[in-house]
Amino acid sequence: MAKLLEAEGLVKAFGGMIAVNKVDFHINEGEILGLIGPNGAGKTTLFNLISGYLRPDAGLVNFGGKRISGLRPYHICHAGIARTFQASKNFPDMSVRENALIGAIFGKPGTSRERAEAETDEILAFVGLAEYADRAVTDIPLAGRKHLEVARALATKPIVLMLDELMAGLNPTEVGEAMELVKRIRASGVTVLMIEHVMKAIMNICDRVIALHHGSLIAEGAPQEIARDAQVIEVYLGGV
Ligand SMILES: Nc1ncnc2c1ncn2[C@@H]1O[C@H](COP(=O)(O)OP(=O)(O)O)[C@@H](O)[C@H]1O
Ligand SMILES: [Mg+2]
Repeated sequence: MAKLLEAEGLVKAFGGMIAVNKVDFHINEGEILGLIGPNGAGKTTLFNLISGYLRPDAGLVNFGGKRISGLRPYHICHAGIARTFQASKNFPDMSVRENALIGAIFGKPGTSRERAEAETDEILAFVGLAEYADRAVTDIPLAGRKHLEVARALATKPIVLMLDELMAGLNPTEVGEAMELVKRIRASGVTVLMIEHVMKAIMNICDRVIALHHGSLIAEGAPQEIARDAQVIEVYLGGV
């Protein structure tokens, strides 16, 4: 499999605290890569470095053979990397459709309003929100708001989609639906990088998993290998 995205020696410190410490990893085209690690491990910071919300102190990120580290978030989005946020970034005063439309309008330059609206309705149907399109965001359940985050990211037509704890707070049925959604996204040709604590999802849908601890990469491998990794069990799974 071809490497689609590659990070080398990524470092990010906040004051004296090194949140991401010389991290090397890659994402293969077409895979679902899981990113695990305890709270505070540096997972979201790694997303922020890839998506351009933070500039790395050292290291670089190449995407499709071109360097993207140092570019602004909207340039990185236009290049084909979209992400969701751990804390919802939905716009509370807007409808479900308007929230998704923002991704379609701003995600790709030169998209007409008519085209963006048509694409938005398709994407809302794809994530299972068609019937909620005219509702206020504040009116729909958490699982729906999480799927809406995914819809807004998908509306930018990404090559890589990064999901930050999509399944946190969902009940088992909703986790199942979210897993199906991630599989459908990959089947549609989008490569996925997902931060997730729900181990059932990691084990069932990821092709490969990387684990962070105190900012450092401590393991990389197939889900079954990661679940057996002594260091991962010690720092993260806690014997689960
Ligand atoms: N913008 C920031 N300013 C200062 N410290 C931060 C910032 N973002 C994250 N951190 C710190 O960096 C560490 C890693 O955080 P984070 O990447 O959010 O971890 P995770 O997503 O794995 O839970 C934590 O100690 C966190 O408090
Ligand atoms: Mg986080």
